Amino acid sequence: MNWAIVAGGSKGIGLGIAEALAKRSFNVLIVARNAEDLQHTKTFLEKKYLIQVEVFCGDLSHTETPAQLLEWFTTRHLPVNVLCNAAGLGGSIDFPNLPLEKIRTMIRLNLESAIALSYLFIPLLQQTTPSYILNVSSLAGFAPIPMKNVYAATKSGLISFSRSLKYLLKKDRISVSCLCPGPVFTKPAIEAETRKQMGWIGKQMAIRPDQVGERAVRAMLKRKMIIVPGRWSKLFSCLLRIVPQDYVARILYRFGKKK
Ligand SMILES: NC(=O)c1ccc[n+]([C@@H]2O[C@H](COP(=O)([O-])OP(=O)(O)OC[C@H]3O[C@@H](n4cnc5c(N)ncnc54)[C@H](OP(=O)(O)O)[C@@H]3O)[C@@H](O)[C@H]2O)c1
Repeated sequence: MNWAIVAGGSKGIGLGIAEALAKRSFNVLIVARNAEDLQHTKTFLEKKYLIQVEVFCGDLSHTETPAQLLEWFTTRHLPVNVLCNAAGLGGSIDFPNLPLEKIRTMIRLNLESAIALSYLFIPLLQQTTPSYILNVSSLAGFAPIPMKNVYAATKSGLISFSRSLKYLLKKDRISVSCLCPGPVFTKPAIEAETRKQMGWIGKQMAIRPDQVGERAVRAMLKRKMIIVPGRWSKLFSCLLRIVPQDYVARILYRFGKKK
């Protein structure tokens, strides 16, 4: 009776991950804000796979939600094997054109909630080893992107946090992985923005959410640290890690201004 928590598992990449876990007989707890979407996903997964699905309706950009989630879990005495932090937000508008409160929400959701959930759930994960933490970052986390400044900063922070956590938890047999996908067309706005910003290459890089989920879970179970699905995204991630960051920022700034 293995349980996996998927924060942001009601749709998009999180749903792809939840389904890949369900396929491998994990029971899943899905966390999101929209109760209707949660129920829909629960019905879909339970009908398709012989597993149990529970839902937790909460806003992870609120600092008290991770502790409420822990309480929900501990009162039911369910063993947790997997913690996946997939809830996140981005978009075409970023610093300094977003109101400060929205920027703070992005930081709290993309970075702080993953850190808080890891902190709170590590003691439970230690009881059911081998266990796994899968953080969902982005290709954007490998580069300073002036036009997506805070988004890229949160995703970069998540990669750094995951890398360090991997070593801190090695002795506990808790594996830490960080998923860094390129474009995934989870909504029409992402598809339109990718086509506008990256044209043909963006289309080649794009990968379906179910494929991302499958590859992420397969690699997570093999204890891979950085997971970049897709050939083109892999190539870009290598380049972004080799080229000096200041040079990358300069190119992306010029490129972003033209678009
Ligand atoms: N799509 C891409 O191209 C892409 C590329 C690289 C990385 N990523 C990253 O992958 C992750 C998922 O992206 P996606 O495109 O799959 O997003 P999505 O389709 O919008 O799904 C986001 C999921 O997170 C939940 N969520 C959003 N805000 C929340 C909040 N405040 N509290 C709790 N749950 C919340 C959503 O449900 P509710 O709305 O009901 O809360 C949903 O289940 C994000 O971290 C994103 O940065 C995406």
